[in-house]
Amino acid sequence: PIRRMTVPQIRAKKGGEPIISLTSYHAHTAAIVDKYADFILVGDSLGMVMHGMESTIGVPLDLMIMHGRAVVRGTKRALIVVDMPFGTYEESPNMAFRNAARIMKETACGAVKLEGGARMAETIHFLVERGIPVMAHIGLTPQSSHVMGGFKTQGREEETWAAHIADAVAVAEAGAFALVVEGVVEPLADKITAAVDIPTIGIGASANCDGQILVLEDMLGLNPWVPKFVKKYGDLGPAIERAVADYAQEVKTRAFPGEDHVYR
Ligand code: KIV
Ligand code: NA
Repeated sequence: PIRRMTVPQIRAKKGGEPIISLTSYHAHTAAIVDKYADFILVGDSLGMVMHGMESTIGVPLDLMIMHGRAVVRGTKRALIVVDMPFGTYEESPNMAFRNAARIMKETACGAVKLEGGARMAETIHFLVERGIPVMAHIGLTPQSSHVMGGFKTQGREEETWAAHIADAVAVAEAGAFALVVEGVVEPLADKITAAVDIPTIGIGASANCDGQILVLEDMLGLNPWVPKFVKKYGDLGPAIERAVADYAQEVKTRAFPGEDHVYR
């Protein structure tokens, strides 16, 4: 049997070949990503991307578990990491453990991710000590967008850098096996990568991070609008529209179903 990428294997990639990662929320896209990615993130961005929410704040735990299970079923190589949604871990280490354990047991994923730096260090330590690998996430943390006043690039003022670097060091020391660095200016991302002994996974950060991640639907061109840091590797939105328009036209003219598509 093909063995999945493990948490120690991801961690050991610090300073080596770049770690390849994308998000995925369902079985069939995950099966494609699985051929190339070291880890797949079932991100809470699914609230916005798949369910039309305005932000990730309203994503329920059960929804993360459902999509997490689908992605685990659709894959066999990559490590699967599932986001802990807003309100399921911040209150206390106990609460975080209870909900992270549910995610691990009900999805069979290999790790969880949560947002926050120094303030989450105690919780990260608590989870890791009890068998739950944790990926951390600092910089632009979308679950805190109401406090930050929107989705704002972090580190534009150099006097804020020390706090971000301290966040990175705190989660690494607490036992996180990797660290997503989102939406920070490039020189700060480079300082963060140099400051920690765990891999940094950049999104809107720097090519010098130890790995990169993008939201799959964004890089496929399924979302009409994407942030500056997203490179569109596909143009699926227009491709889907062409297919749907062709279908509509053929139904209207009774060209579909044709001879090949009916049982004689
Ligand atoms: O939810 C998500 O997709 C994420 C990535 C952007 C890192 O957290
Ligand atoms: Na997320």
